[in-house]
Amino acid sequence: MPLAGRRGPWHAGTIVIQSRALTFRTIRPNDDAALAAANYRDAHFASYGAEGRYQGDENYVTWLRERVEEYPDGHVLAFFDEACVGQLELQVPYGLTTGYVNLFYVTPPFRQQGYGRLLHDFAERYFRSWEAARIELDVTRTNHRAINFYRHLGYRVTRARGFAWRMAKALP
Ligand SMILES: CC(C)(COP(=O)(O)OP(=O)(O)OC[C@H]1O[C@@H](n2cnc3c(N)ncnc32)[C@H](O)[C@@H]1OP(=O)(O)O)[C@@H](O)C(=O)NCCC(=O)NCCS
Repeated sequence: MPLAGRRGPWHAGTIVIQSRALTFRTIRPNDDAALAAANYRDAHFASYGAEGRYQGDENYVTWLRERVEEYPDGHVLAFFDEACVGQLELQVPYGLTTGYVNLFYVTPPFRQQGYGRLLHDFAERYFRSWEAARIELDVTRTNHRAINFYRHLGYRVTRARGFAWRMAKALP
């Protein structure tokens, strides 16, 4: 799937944002419930494997509904034409200058083609727009692909959190 060469228009503060060939829009928990839950479930599997205890689609969507209400422009789906390329769950809690990535997910057909970097570009813009100076996330220690991806993007492990590493990156 080729990427368009140049960065497209950026409309900060709106719910539909185009970045190169991708369109990002806020998750609509009613309409997107099945898609968002499938994405989350697959990311959960990548993180915890078959041993992981997934909370169930209904619980996830209930939780997601609250998150979207609180951080609408940080909870987005990315599309290439009609196809879902990924999902992000981002937040900068009120009064903090550290942003947190709860979900970073590229759908399987679009992996290893540069879309993860495009999603990360979106995340950086989101965090900057909320004046965050640092990004943090947790990644399970066995999710080597994700750890190496984050390292490649400049994240470093800052501490251990149970089965996960806390990774962080400064936003200059
Ligand atoms: C991890 C994940 C987000 C990577 O997305 P992706 O679309 O495959 O990544 P990209 O193709 O955009 O790669 C971006 C850059 O990272 C590099 N990269 C990607 N995966 C890498 C890896 N495993 N090791 C080292 N570098 C990697 C690429 O070479 C590329 O470098 P460049 O832009 O300098 O040329 C994706 O595999 C995914 O969603 N996995 C399942 C869900 C998951 O585990 N999420 C994280 C949970 S914490």
